[in-house]
Amino acid sequence: MTTSKSIAILPGDGIGPEVIAQAVRVIDCLNEKHAANLTYEEAPFGGAGYDLHGSPLPEVTLDLAKRSDAILLGAIGGPKWEAVERSLRPERGLLGIRSALGLFSNLRPAILYPELADASTLKPEVVSGLDIMIVRELTGGIYFGQPRGIEPTDQGERRGYNTMHYSESEISRIADSAYKIAMQRDKRLCSVDKANVLETSELWREIVIEVGKDYPDVELSHMYIDNACMQLIRAPKQFDVIVTGNIFGDILSDAASMLTGSIGMLPSASLDENGKGMYEPVHGSAPDIAGKNIANPIATILSLAMMLRSSLDRADLATKVEAAVRKVLQNGLRTADIAGPNDKPASTAEMGDAILAALE
Ligand code: IPM
Ligand code: MG
Repeated sequence: MTTSKSIAILPGDGIGPEVIAQAVRVIDCLNEKHAANLTYEEAPFGGAGYDLHGSPLPEVTLDLAKRSDAILLGAIGGPKWEAVERSLRPERGLLGIRSALGLFSNLRPAILYPELADASTLKPEVVSGLDIMIVRELTGGIYFGQPRGIEPTDQGERRGYNTMHYSESEISRIADSAYKIAMQRDKRLCSVDKANVLETSELWREIVIEVGKDYPDVELSHMYIDNACMQLIRAPKQFDVIVTGNIFGDILSDAASMLTGSIGMLPSASLDENGKGMYEPVHGSAPDIAGKNIANPIATILSLAMMLRSSLDRADLATKVEAAVRKVLQNGLRTADIAGPNDKPASTAEMGDAILAALE
């Protein structure tokens, strides 16, 4: 009997609860059919946390996240909470949990599934075989830098300001994560910055080069963020692993996800120093389609697989889940986001049913 592992389930807002429900069915199935020994407990987060407890990251939720072995998150946010005071908006809950748990290393893969080659808006020859890993620094940079705010000026207007800074240790630990990942892949690392303008980036570049001395087998290159955006769309297959700071990673990862044709397919992980992590689909809460049972649950189910492999030491189960997803795609089942003109789109629950059937 394997030791039991605990998962904190944070469904969140919008389509979050719907896609999470399918992932929970997968957990149940792994327990029943594959003796997985996984326990789970749910807590409100984001807008749901605000509605229930007046905070996007209620204490009960943070407590649960801290004592669990890993966290599975749906998605947060929506127009309903746009008028809420800034410090209580759903996004603040997300930034808060990343910071409170020290989840500094954000892994966002962009993989093109051969079955879905037609779903990309780019030409098939540009994207076929695409497999990029973006490593985004997640607890520093301009997202967290102090001072920040909106204040009156002597000229009688207001000014908004934020501060971008990275310390040497913050840079070296994310660089180290990225080199380690590159070592398990094609051993090519591209560090993305804005060193032609920003001192923060100048230091970033220096430290990334220094950490690289421990990884002589990894080929390091540097690219400015503007060029990287352009190259990502022009010739994305030139990249293997990209490492970058918080805000550049936010932008680049959205662009990269779209290369694959469906943001509804991509999982992500946010890890701390010890490999404990929060796993979530790359897509957002999609309030426009929430409650309609049409969202694609695959990104969330693949996030669960990523969790099983990276935080719960159950690569065997991860492989089973990934194979089940693969089989369902090969059989031609498609939710609306990845459906071709001749496909009859499957619902969220139908996609879940098919993945469960493939898993059994
Ligand atoms: C993301 C999101 C968040 C971010 C928002 C919702 C705070 O865009 O995870 O990429 O900017 O990090
Ligand atoms: Mg983003």
